[in-house]
Amino acid sequence: MKKILILGATGSIGTSALKVIRKYPKRFKIVGITANTKKEKLIEISREFSVKNIGIQDGSTIICNNKSKRLQDGDVNTYFVKNLEYDLVLNSLVGSVGFLPTYYAIKRGKIIALANKETIVSYGEIIKKELKKNKRALIKPVDSEHSALWQLLSFIDRKQIKKCYITASGGVPFKLNKTDLSYDEVIKHPIWNMGIKVTIDSSTMVNKGLEIIEACRLFDLPPEMVGVLIHPQSLVHAMVMLNDGTYICHMAYPDMVLPIEYALLHPDRGDSPSLKLLNEDYRNDISFYPAPLEKYTSLKLAYKAIEKGGNMPAIFNAANEKSVELFLNGRIKFNLIVPLIEKVMRSVKFIEKVTIENIKESEEKAKILATKIGEKL
Ligand SMILES: NC(=O)c1ccc[n+]([C@@H]2O[C@H](COP(=O)([O-])OP(=O)(O)OC[C@H]3O[C@@H](n4cnc5c(N)ncnc54)[C@H](OP(=O)(O)O)[C@@H]3O)[C@@H](O)[C@H]2O)c1
Repeated sequence: MKKILILGATGSIGTSALKVIRKYPKRFKIVGITANTKKEKLIEISREFSVKNIGIQDGSTIICNNKSKRLQDGDVNTYFVKNLEYDLVLNSLVGSVGFLPTYYAIKRGKIIALANKETIVSYGEIIKKELKKNKRALIKPVDSEHSALWQLLSFIDRKQIKKCYITASGGVPFKLNKTDLSYDEVIKHPIWNMGIKVTIDSSTMVNKGLEIIEACRLFDLPPEMVGVLIHPQSLVHAMVMLNDGTYICHMAYPDMVLPIEYALLHPDRGDSPSLKLLNEDYRNDISFYPAPLEKYTSLKLAYKAIEKGGNMPAIFNAANEKSVELFLNGRIKFNLIVPLIEKVMRSVKFIEKVTIENIKESEEKAKILATKIGEKL
């Protein structure tokens, strides 16, 4: 039985992970769960799955075996990662707060099912260095496109690969052909039902930009070998083009339960499809379009960030995190999110050799600048 720690258990990914664990009750034991504020929901989960360790970030409180304690250094996720006994940690936190728990899990040689893409985008170089030092540690991607690439790359000879593609359903404003959107329009993603930040990131296509960087980092691919295709049905999640012109695709019903199940069970696979199978509605309706960079500025910025390297991916990510927050607080309009990221990327000093400290500083500077520039927009 695998012992699992779930960071961000009350979120969209966390909730899908619980579905997987309900499906395979004999294979998993949850040893710890965390959330930011949703204490009641955590307690409900702890009752259903008999979880002994609960961490609530708001108030830095942990409850272990019914005893409550306030942490000195504040971070409940890192505390559990460092102190609990587990085989696998699912990092389904949102934003770059996910970095330290990932970092310390690697230091302990643990397996990390990683949904938290912001971590690998901003701190990718540090994480890769740490993985080299701790050979037992392993990252299993949870993002659907990266899970798909992981599966494809496990059997395709690298020398045969010309280019890898991840797909995007297209971004709501581009679909509606509108440059500006209200909050209500933004949160209606056509296919995926996700947390609020990743839903906004999908609408601006920054999510796909983050995923380009994530793919380069996770699979050691140069940026020119990672392409994006618009695929409105979200059935194919990634494809690999071989030198001879053949394409090999990964296709699955668009539900995060599948890539989570794959990451949690790997190297095994699930034994019964619990999701809708592809049906005749999809016949004749699978399409792919290019994603030109002159149309999708967020993709252009992501390529710039990963090509430049150093602290630039972290600046791209931090500028986005702050811009999304400003949008959610009604401080900037939706159509200013991407221009604001671009302005911040031009303004924060570039650092080639990254350390944890200088990435953190760059993130802070990017967020301060985004707020300042955002006020004037
Ligand atoms: N949702 C998807 O379909 C999807 C697909 C692919 C990748 N991802 C990636 O997966 C990550 C999670 O996305 P999501 O959509 O699941 O987000 P979400 O629904 O907003 O959930 C985030 C979770 O993290 C918790 N949390 C946030 N900050 C925390 C902190 N400092 N300490 C402890 N817990 C904290 C939240 O707790 P509260 O509930 O108390 O706020 C919640 O449980 C993101 O990086 C996203 O890009 C998501």
